[in-house]
Amino acid sequence: MKWDHIIRNGHIVTSQESYQADLYIKNGIIAAISPSTEPLPGEAAEVTDAVGKYVLPGLMDIHVHSRDPGATYKEDFYHSTQAAAAGGITTVFEMPNTNPPINNVENFHKQAANLGEKAHVDFGIWAICLGHLNLEDLLPLHEAGVIGFKFFWGYAVHSKTFQLMYNYKEGMEDVIPPFKDGDVLDIFREAAKTGQILAIHAESNDIIQHLTKKVEASGRRDYEALLEGRPNLAEIVTVQTGIAFAKETGARLHILHVSTGEAVDLIKQAQAEGYPITAETCPHYLFLDNEDFHTIGPAMKVYPPVKYKKDQERLWKGIEEGVISVVCSDHAPHTEEEKDGDLWSIPAGMCGVETLAPLLLNAVHEGKLTLQKVVSVLSEQPAKLFGIYPQKGSLQVGTDADITVVDMEKPFTIKRDNLHSKSKVTAYDGWSGTGTPIQTIVRGKTVMKEGEIVGGPAGRLVTPRSQPKNE
Ligand code: DOR
Ligand code: ZN
Repeated sequence: MKWDHIIRNGHIVTSQESYQADLYIKNGIIAAISPSTEPLPGEAAEVTDAVGKYVLPGLMDIHVHSRDPGATYKEDFYHSTQAAAAGGITTVFEMPNTNPPINNVENFHKQAANLGEKAHVDFGIWAICLGHLNLEDLLPLHEAGVIGFKFFWGYAVHSKTFQLMYNYKEGMEDVIPPFKDGDVLDIFREAAKTGQILAIHAESNDIIQHLTKKVEASGRRDYEALLEGRPNLAEIVTVQTGIAFAKETGARLHILHVSTGEAVDLIKQAQAEGYPITAETCPHYLFLDNEDFHTIGPAMKVYPPVKYKKDQERLWKGIEEGVISVVCSDHAPHTEEEKDGDLWSIPAGMCGVETLAPLLLNAVHEGKLTLQKVVSVLSEQPAKLFGIYPQKGSLQVGTDADITVVDMEKPFTIKRDNLHSKSKVTAYDGWSGTGTPIQTIVRGKTVMKEGEIVGGPAGRLVTPRSQPKNE
């Protein structure tokens, strides 16, 4: 058989171009792209008729917490990567706040083996920064092939398990309090030596503790009270300090899940000055605001919390301007029971990997962004940022045949019970839209067709090291 897979008559979309062509796959690689009017000779094992459909470079979600190993009662990599495949995602980056966390090379290798058995799509693995506890591990982790470094700024850490303390209060036992600025500066210096991305959760614990105490004392339990305890200011101060540290150390700072308009302005300014600072945001900050809590409730509790309409508007503008170059889900499932309770004590996070692409495709119809921009923020920019372009994030001959086929006219309704994640907690239950990933192809193999998962786990680890040197 000359070809493994041919995708015929589709409309190929990259961030720069859009044209009709046939795409030929051999041995998991894009072997040829040719005008549909001039088909190449040779039979194919699989033929996809993509007439009227869009053929996108495989979409990526760089921010996924599958909690595997550790809290697999909430989610695991088998389920989260099925959800990814169902949602048109061909590569996910798994967050390192697992148990054990990905804080050293040994745990990284164990994690690569663990995830490899369950992966329905390709995956990268983040490493965690634990201040002075693992400074010497960052360079070896870089050499081992992690996709980037994550620092949960403002989080306390359990002194024995190194687990993050989500609801830390001063005086708790067996807890290392949130790292002080001097410790954080050391992290920046050490990460800068690797040349890899240092991504930060940007919320000031000092501000949050201080303001939350006051609000809690008032007895209020509503969403507005939560926002008073965890205000825009908490993000602003940390982004500001982060930018200052990045300027000082040369670290390639990436601001995770930006939720405020002010942070967009700060990042824009630093980028204009020429610093390699990047940012991502998530659908919940783009499609929800504080008012939605009345109808959605605890499912939409995330950290940082969803802010105000004016923030939402600034975030969209930030995408348009290119200040925010990545959109990702921050897929962070908790169980139904855990999410049901007092707003202050329930955990933050919800499912997102499966709904990420459909929500953005629908936003194309709403005029919020173009389909080419979707390719940019969900595929090309993530791949470039993390050093895996053009193997991922492109439709170039000779690169991985990761492809998301999209039907821009196909309507969808998000139904919690249909989600492939273990947890079904979503803010978007019942939401409808138009624009659906109908086929997910990872290195030439179809892993989802018309919403059905095809085949077993065959995903592979992606590392920046696997890139040819001259790319
Ligand atoms: O909402 C969130 N959930 N924010 C975080 O920073 C952590 C995440 C989680 O792991 O649950
Ligand atoms: Zn996260």
